Amino acid sequence: MISRRRFSQAAFGIATIGAAPQRGAAQSHERILVAGATGRTGRFVAQDLLDSGHAVRGLTRNPDRARERYGDDVEWVAGDVRDRASLLPLYTGCDRVISVLGATERTGENTPEAVEYNGNVNLIDQAKESGLKQVVMITSLSAGRADSDPDLVARFTGMLWKNKAEHYLRDSNIPYTIVGPGGLRDYEPRLQGIWFQSEDNITVGTISRADVGAVMAEAARNPAALNKTLRIINDPKRPIDGWRDALSQVPLDS
Ligand SMILES: NC(=O)c1ccc[n+]([C@@H]2O[C@H](COP(=O)([O-])OP(=O)(O)OC[C@H]3O[C@@H](n4cnc5c(N)ncnc54)[C@H](OP(=O)(O)O)[C@@H]3O)[C@@H](O)[C@H]2O)c1
Repeated sequence: MISRRRFSQAAFGIATIGAAPQRGAAQSHERILVAGATGRTGRFVAQDLLDSGHAVRGLTRNPDRARERYGDDVEWVAGDVRDRASLLPLYTGCDRVISVLGATERTGENTPEAVEYNGNVNLIDQAKESGLKQVVMITSLSAGRADSDPDLVARFTGMLWKNKAEHYLRDSNIPYTIVGPGGLRDYEPRLQGIWFQSEDNITVGTISRADVGAVMAEAARNPAALNKTLRIINDPKRPIDGWRDALSQVPLDS
C-alpha cells in the first residue's frame, strides 16, 4: 500500500490530486529519477508516479530539507545538475529520468543557461550513458518559437535555453517526451480538460501545475508519448480526462 498522505496533502498543503484514472500503465513498475521533484510542478509528477506504483528517486540539492518537508515516500538523493560527474551514480537502478528543473536565478550561478540548458544536457548525456529508456523534460509552450522570434527571446531569455535543450534532446537519439506547458497556475487539477496544441498554431493559455504533473507522469508510462512534443494548456471545452486518449493522436516529432 502506497502512502500518499505526507507527500501530497499534509506536506504540500494542497488538495488531493484526485481520482484521475491511472492508464497506460502497461509496463511493469519502474524506478524513475525525477530532477526537480521538490519543485512546485515536480511534486505533482512524483506524487502521480507514486500513486501508480512506481518508485521515485528525487534529485535535489538538499535531501535533508526535502525529507523534512515532503517525507520519505520519495527516495531523496543529493545532486546538482550543473555538476555532471555527480549525476552518474544517481542513475543506478533507474529506468527513466524526468526533468522538471527550473532555474532559481536570472543572473548568477543557477540561471536558465546553467540549469535548464547545461543541466538538462548533463541529465540527457548521463541517461544515454546509463542506457535509460526515456527522458521526459519540461520546457514551455512557446519554446519552439525561439527559433524564429527574436522578440520573444529578447523578452524571455530563458526561452532560448529551453529551445536549445529541446533541440539537444531531439537530436540525442534517446527516446524522449518534451512537455511544453502554458503559464503555470496553482489551481486544482482536473477542473478543465487539457488541449494538445499544434506546434505551428499555438494559442496562449495557462494550465494547472497538477495537470502538467499528470501529463509528465503519463508520458513516462505510456509509449504513445514517445518522441513527441506535447504543448499543453487547460481548455474548459475539452473533456476532463479526454487528453489521455488524445495523446496517441499527437504527431511524432519530425
Ligand atoms: N512559470 C510559468 O508560468 C512557466 C510556464 C511554462 C514552463 N515553466 C517552466 O516549468 C519548470 C518548472 O517550474 P516550477 O515553477 O515548478 O519550478 P520550481 O518550483 O522553481 O522548482 C525548480 C526545481 O528545480 C530544482 N533545481 C534548481 N536548480 C537545480 C540544480 N542546480 N540542480 C538540481 N536541481 C535544481 C529545484 O530543486 P532543489 O531546490 O530541491 O535543488 C526545484 O525542485 C521551469 O523550467 C519553468 O521555467 C514555467
